[in-house]
Amino acid sequence: MSLVVTGASGHLGRRTAELLLETGGVDPADVVLVTRSPEKLADLAARGAVVRCGDFASPDTLRAAFVGARRVLLISIDAGSDRVDRHAAAIGAATTAGAELIAYTSYPNPDSGRNPASVVPDHAATEAAILSSGVPYVLLRNAIYSEYVGSFSSQPPLTAGAFVHNFGDGASAYVSREDCAAAAAAVLAGSGEHANKIYDIAGPEAMTGADLAALYTSVGRVEVAAVAVDDATWIADAVAHGLPEQAARNVASFGRAIREGALNQRTGDVERLTGRRPISVADVLEGLASGSADR
Ligand SMILES: NC(=O)c1ccc[n+]([C@@H]2O[C@H](COP(=O)([O-])OP(=O)(O)OC[C@H]3O[C@@H](n4cnc5c(N)ncnc54)[C@H](OP(=O)(O)O)[C@@H]3O)[C@@H](O)[C@H]2O)c1
Repeated sequence: MSLVVTGASGHLGRRTAELLLETGGVDPADVVLVTRSPEKLADLAARGAVVRCGDFASPDTLRAAFVGARRVLLISIDAGSDRVDRHAAAIGAATTAGAELIAYTSYPNPDSGRNPASVVPDHAATEAAILSSGVPYVLLRNAIYSEYVGSFSSQPPLTAGAFVHNFGDGASAYVSREDCAAAAAAVLAGSGEHANKIYDIAGPEAMTGADLAALYTSVGRVEVAAVAVDDATWIADAVAHGLPEQAARNVASFGRAIREGALNQRTGDVERLTGRRPISVADVLEGLASGSADR
């Protein structure tokens, strides 16, 4: 019976797969990597993982991809109008395959009444579909990736000297993808103790816009000041700097979520799952700036 990772050629899926292959007691032949692009995972196949073709948009491919599945990590796919239907197809296939656990990469506070981020409705609907499948679940509510903090300025912050944000005084507990992968691998490789648990996968500190500007200053060695603006100003400024309007509205919704306190949870769940303190935003930014880490 296997440990299945979907989206396995993406950033999070690949890293989770690598960590599973390094986990003592996990037989590489039990690690099943489901992807639309098997050729991208030839290196992990060479290390003993089983690579299968599967596309959430083609449920027939999932039946074969999930054969023998014991625990499935369902990595959320890119935002789009049919994302919930595609997730539902994967949940259905995992259920039919007899999976004992479905772990899903969700989002903090997935309740539109509490969290205005644009991705919340999709995650809320997917969580509901998993719960109604009756299969034991793990909801990994991943905070905003630390690798993305630069995208929350309406201007290129390391060059423009201004980190223009709409966070107000709000803070966000950004998390590294490495910690998301380590937490997911720990859940898949565990012995069932995670069933029906919800984990907030968050970084070690909640950071404000001012904190990020200070970080940009130290990492980029260029003075960067935090400039707090309202949503409309942020959107207009981002559009003026080349972001399409809908994308600007979506990103602004994350800033609003930060401002309203929906993204600042620090629960210690990463430490409990991985046995180590989560990686700081500073370390992620240093890695990106030095080119030793992947964006
Ligand atoms: N917390 C955050 O800040 C944050 C930020 C961005 C995204 N996310 C969410 O977290 C997910 C994982 O992040 P990531 O960095 O690993 O993203 P990523 O590198 O873009 O990988 C996402 C993967 O989703 C898979 N996918 C897309 N469409 C699919 C389909 N129709 N059927 C099956 N798989 C499909 C793809 O895997 P294959 O190509 O291998 O099939 C893709 O590589 C994202 O997809 C997104 O939902 C979270």
